Amino acid sequence: GAPVEVEIGDMQPGEMRTVEWRGKPVWIIRRTPEQLATLKEVDAQLADPNSERNPNEITPEYARNEYRSIKPEYLVAVGICPHLGCSPTARFATGPQPSLPADWHGGFLCPCHGSTFDMAGRVYKNKPSPDNLTIPPYEFVSDTKIVVG
Ligand code: FES
Repeated sequence: GAPVEVEIGDMQPGEMRTVEWRGKPVWIIRRTPEQLATLKEVDAQLADPNSERNPNEITPEYARNEYRSIKPEYLVAVGICPHLGCSPTARFATGPQPSLPADWHGGFLCPCHGSTFDMAGRVYKNKPSPDNLTIPPYEFVSDTKIVVG
């Protein structure tokens, strides 16, 4: 598949955009300072907080950091659940909600079997997905443009 260019200059904090790359949904999320601050708080609840599982397939070197991204603000992730391939939905509101832990800090919920992921696509413990969401190959070609692939 060909690389996909994404203009991000007009994205507001908290906004999410989905593009298609190699037939897969790829999410771009401009995270707010509050969303970035939650990442450290949830480490102890995650299955693989430091993205050490299968790093060559799941977390490229440039995303092996606490934000799982090149620039902290922008998360770029493949929107497919590693369990059986459903597409998780964004659940950015924090606090108690149906199907989510009472102390939910925002992230993604897979509707198929309930895997939950934080704002960096890291999977919570004791969920069917063994792995974090995949970070695809991408780069910033300018301050306002990402190329995926
Ligand atoms: Fe996502 Fe099973 S496919 S939890």
